[in-house]
Amino acid sequence: MRQIVLARPDDWHIHLRDGDALATTVPHCARYLGRGLVMPNLQPPVTRVELALAYRDRILRHVPDGSAFTPLMTLYLTDDTPADEVRRAADSEHVMAFKLYPAGATTNSAAGIHGIEALYPIFEVMEREGVVLSIHGEVTDRDCDIFDRERVFIDRHLEEIVKRFPSLRVVLEHITTADAVEFVRAASHHVAATITAHHLVLNRNDMLVGGIRPHHYCLPVPKRERHREALVEAACSGEPRFFFGSDSAPHGRSRKEAACGCAGVYTAHALVEICATAFAHRGALKRLNDFCSGFGADFYGLPRTTETVTLVEEPWTVPEDFPFTGDRLVPFHAGQEMAWRVHDA
Ligand code: DOR
Ligand code: ZN
Repeated sequence: MRQIVLARPDDWHIHLRDGDALATTVPHCARYLGRGLVMPNLQPPVTRVELALAYRDRILRHVPDGSAFTPLMTLYLTDDTPADEVRRAADSEHVMAFKLYPAGATTNSAAGIHGIEALYPIFEVMEREGVVLSIHGEVTDRDCDIFDRERVFIDRHLEEIVKRFPSLRVVLEHITTADAVEFVRAASHHVAATITAHHLVLNRNDMLVGGIRPHHYCLPVPKRERHREALVEAACSGEPRFFFGSDSAPHGRSRKEAACGCAGVYTAHALVEICATAFAHRGALKRLNDFCSGFGADFYGLPRTTETVTLVEEPWTVPEDFPFTGDRLVPFHAGQEMAWRVHDA
């Protein structure tokens, strides 16, 4: 039975939601995470530092006694974000980044951005203040095929952003393509990417073959197998610019198993276990610590966690579902056996 000790992992992109949902999501990740960078796409969105601090307090109320879990916050960038808010974010020890959602790109993105060029003055302030710009990198044009949306966003917007603002720290979130891997690799050290657990193990066949599998539907959508392989290669490469951000995104069963089901895969119950499966398959377990517990903190300029968790090769079965705001929440790999398990002691 193999066993690995990891520094307590950090998740640099997680959706915890709000209200009753926190009773499910927070204890799940507090079991083994050191820090979680919490996404701001609530309704209404978290657009101001003071809203983020109030949200942080609501999250903290659900952290079980004895857990070291610390939420870090993001702000939702809108067409009207004032430069002063960027300065306030830079001054806050709890707010780490602004999140850019192109309007209409994903869950609760209606308040997002309509014209990226109009934000250049704000990017300039972020660059000067050292505030990270976290990007959902997909175009939303109706005539752009959904499988091409990430690549087109890079060509149309990201190349230009990093050229104009060479010191702006940018995270391209939840990358899904070999094109994104290539772009990030070629960019300066101010540019990084998060990779999710589920995109390390899913390709588009897993979502569409043998019937539509709503619990595998997320945005950006999983791509061809060659793209999944490129993500695994990048995650296991030991390059500091690729680090873990789960995009764990809970939605009640009734909203997933619907005629128009919403996007999101829930992985917070087993983040490290899913990553371990992908790394072990590639014989790269020795690289897991840097990916899950090191490179993200380095990029955000925070110390690495000193507490540890132990990952043990020990079979267990994922529950079929969890209670969730009066509905049920179907986790990734529901009812399936997994080979690795994290012990938090
Ligand atoms: O699948 C997704 N779900 N992708 C996102 O970008 C947002 C997330 C959510 O909030 O549900
Ligand atoms: Zn997300």
